[in-house]
Amino acid sequence: MPEGMQGRYVGLADEYARFWSPVIEPMGLRLLEMLPLGLAWRIVDIGCGTGNLISKIVAAAPNARYLGLDRAANILSAASKSGVPLVLADGCRLPLRNSSFDVAVMAFALFKFPSPLAGLTEAKRVLRPGGVLGITIWAGDTHVLPGDEIWEEVLVDVPRSPDESDRLEDLNEIEKLRGVLESAGITGSDIHSETFERTWTPESLFALKSELTHRARLVRLPVDEREKRLAQVRAYLAGMTPSSFIWRPSILFARAQVPSTV
Ligand SMILES: C[S@@+](CC[C@H](N)C(=O)[O-])C[C@H]1O[C@@H](n2cnc3c(N)ncnc32)[C@H](O)[C@@H]1O
Repeated sequence: MPEGMQGRYVGLADEYARFWSPVIEPMGLRLLEMLPLGLAWRIVDIGCGTGNLISKIVAAAPNARYLGLDRAANILSAASKSGVPLVLADGCRLPLRNSSFDVAVMAFALFKFPSPLAGLTEAKRVLRPGGVLGITIWAGDTHVLPGDEIWEEVLVDVPRSPDESDRLEDLNEIEKLRGVLESAGITGSDIHSETFERTWTPESLFALKSELTHRARLVRLPVDEREKRLAQVRAYLAGMTPSSFIWRPSILFARAQVPSTV
């Protein structure tokens, strides 16, 4: 597989932008409030995605040159609508000079990296002394959505591809995230969690999971079998109580500053 084409959402940038970006956007915006964007001259957005946050970062940082970086070519192609400089690269091997950025943003990206430790080590390297790194990560298992259990049941015999794995389990508690930051030489981070709320509908959950999350697994089934299983999911979602559609994910926010003297 060519570099830059790994990951669950290969070929699904439009679906990602439509069904998932708006879900995580409020959490990303909250991270931006914690960062000194207004004072920054150079900002790197590592794992920038299709671009929901890009315009917000640019608006909050009128003096800054923004650079978006992602390892997925199709995602970057969708992000190119924003008209900002973008680079196709792995966050674990940044093609960027030492001490060249004031702020590094890693919104919902670090747990996707093959090595979060390498990603943090690289982020630290490209930040100038006094530069600030901002991270969001799902806390615990709150990324699990209402009704996920029925998808696991109907797709139990359709394995995920190996590239769908992530390292969330290594990062999804304050002390675990602090430990990896410290291993990368980033000490004194401010890490806390905040809880958000979103009310799903059977239709919005079905669209997200069938069009994006489980699309690669579903297309491996014969059409009639796929339709049978999708009907089972629809019936299950239709039978869930209204209160079970309320989702309250907790998010870890980390803000770390590279020491001013090195
Ligand atoms: C969940 S999306 C978040 C996108 C954006 N930061 C946001 O908050 O809307 C995670 C992004 O990280 C990218 N990504 C995953 N692993 C990466 C890596 N090793 N290097 C660079 N980007 C990576 C994915 O391609 C994807 O676009």
